[in-house]
Amino acid sequence: MNLLIMGLPGAGKGTQAAKIVEEFNVIHISTGDMFRAAMANKTEMGLLAKSYIDKGDLVPDEVTNGIVKERLAQADVKEKGFLLDGYPRTIDQAHALDAALKELGQKLDGVINIDVQPDSLVERLSGRIINKKTGETFHKLFNPPKGNYDENEYYQREDDKPETVKRRLDVNIAQGQPILEHYRNLGLVRDIEGNQDISDVFAEIKEAIVKL
Ligand code: AP5
Ligand code: MG
Repeated sequence: MNLLIMGLPGAGKGTQAAKIVEEFNVIHISTGDMFRAAMANKTEMGLLAKSYIDKGDLVPDEVTNGIVKERLAQADVKEKGFLLDGYPRTIDQAHALDAALKELGQKLDGVINIDVQPDSLVERLSGRIINKKTGETFHKLFNPPKGNYDENEYYQREDDKPETVKRRLDVNIAQGQPILEHYRNLGLVRDIEGNQDISDVFAEIKEAIVKL
């Protein structure tokens, strides 16, 4: 099964992707995670990506399309299927994805769109914490780690500062609409109410995927 998960920054794409991957055994491909790994390793691509990500801007399409196409062609993805998270982010990326899938003889089965009002997203992102060892995402208030956790074992993303979040939201609101339109015309979009508990969001997503 080949899926996309869409939604504004903080909508819960990564949180739900972890659950979808566990339930449906597909490969999670997150361009944000790929860029952060390259940034941590200080590769040439990572340094280039950082110059955009730190400002809340999108990394240029040629770079992003290249890394996704390469990942999609790998054997594990062909075998198990994929869940793309954070890609496509521009209409040109959507067209590049269509072309890449055609070349690989693959197709999309569904687009999960997590719908959340933008005003709640700053709060979600400013309280997000990530486990340094496992990479698991939590929220200080909405989804805290179990028990008395040690704050030093968690970090906050550089781009979760309020100024950057505002820019990320503006960019994504502007770019997202035509992409959704593109997939709606193909009958692929399943809208999910994102303003509810994490487990309730997942229940809706699961139901939608099973029916695809
Ligand atoms: P990326 O990493 O994709 O970030 P994003 O789209 O801004 O989304 P986030 O990861 O911030 O949010 P999420 O929806 O995954 O939410 P999460 O589950 O963590 O991209 C980062 C940057 O990389 C971009 O700005 C861009 O520069 C670059 N980039 C990436 N892809 C690109 C592309 N294709 N083209 C060009 N550039 C690209 O949840 C957020 C918080 O809310 C957590 O704390 C979580 O615990 C909490 N939460 C989740 N669900 C709920 C709920 N239902 N109720 C309450 N709290 C919740
Ligand atoms: Mg994410």
